[in-house]
Amino acid sequence: KIQEVNKFIEIHTEAARFYFSNLLGTKNPGYEYLKKRGLSDKIIKKFGLGYSLNSWNSLMNYLIAKGYDKTDLVRCGLVTHKTETNKYFDRFRNRVMFPIFNYNGKVIGFGGRVLDDSLPKYLNSPETMVFNKRLNLYGLNISKKSIKDDTLILVEGYMDLISLYQNNIENVVATLGTALTIEQARLIRRFAKNVIISYDSDQAGQNATLRAIDILLQADIKVKILNLKDCKDPDDFIKKYGFEGYKKAIEQSDYYIKYKIDILRKKYDLNNDSQKMSFIEESTLMLKKLKSPIEKDLYAKYLSDLTNISIESIRANIGIKVNSNY
Ligand code: GTP
Ligand code: MN
Ligand code: MN
Ligand code: MN
Ligand code: MN
Repeated sequence: KIQEVNKFIEIHTEAARFYFSNLLGTKNPGYEYLKKRGLSDKIIKKFGLGYSLNSWNSLMNYLIAKGYDKTDLVRCGLVTHKTETNKYFDRFRNRVMFPIFNYNGKVIGFGGRVLDDSLPKYLNSPETMVFNKRLNLYGLNISKKSIKDDTLILVEGYMDLISLYQNNIENVVATLGTALTIEQARLIRRFAKNVIISYDSDQAGQNATLRAIDILLQADIKVKILNLKDCKDPDDFIKKYGFEGYKKAIEQSDYYIKYKIDILRKKYDLNNDSQKMSFIEESTLMLKKLKSPIEKDLYAKYLSDLTNISIESIRANIGIKVNSNY
């Protein structure tokens, strides 16, 4: 088994080299795409980005010539076998390629992006003996060396992470669009006690943020949320506001509870008494669950300011005893 694992990693490493070398051709569409996205040669090399040729078998033929077994390439998910026609073809074709490393820096899978807006936008390696999506975080092999203030920033996508990194925000990991798992949260916890979630600002990103908050808390991580203002994702944000802007957004990021209250608030019309009551009921229910009395009080104050209800009433609702004389 261990030999199999090593062989699979070797195959992935060779594939990554092949994809990378494909970038070097003149007028290469993959290279042009990455340039259009603003990536430097240095960062392309750092992340080992590449290009899968617009052909059916180029990777397969390359790896077979290196002595690898066709069935192993299929088991790695790099080659697809159609049983009906008994045809073999490369899984990734005409895409820019992102090698996925485990946190020890071994290539265990790939993501491939189309060069235009055809679908699916990204194609990823399937689960294999070496690629378990639940257990891995993109970029951790690199960012673990740059953890600052015991904090990691969590983003959705390859491009978000790489773009931030190019702009000197290096303590970042990405979940690659799938829901954060408890295993991933525990992996993060081995490297940092604090996480700043910086998912996309669309509805999907917001829903994913709410789910990630709960998972991270379960792993005993302190959670803050970054506000991307008018931008759709961190890549957009850093292109628009630069390092200084993102840095400022990090500093201004608030604990998750405020984010949750703000989302809740948008569902209610606070000019309507009964809706205001419902909003306060729901929010205080949330604050009741907080362990720290200081946190409770801090957000009681926030709620009080939001609603113009006295802090005493809010405290009473949360179960903070006021004027008790025992
Ligand atoms: P760009 O358009 O290249 O900037 O990508 P993005 O990262 O902004 O894409 P998006 O916010 O849509 O998705 C975030 C992450 O989810 C991506 O980086 C991918 O890892 C993953 N993802 C997005 N679209 C797909 C898809 O069609 N299939 C799969 N399997 N994953 C996807
Ligand atoms: Mn998408
Ligand atoms: Mn998204
Ligand atoms: Mn995005
Ligand atoms: Mn994007």
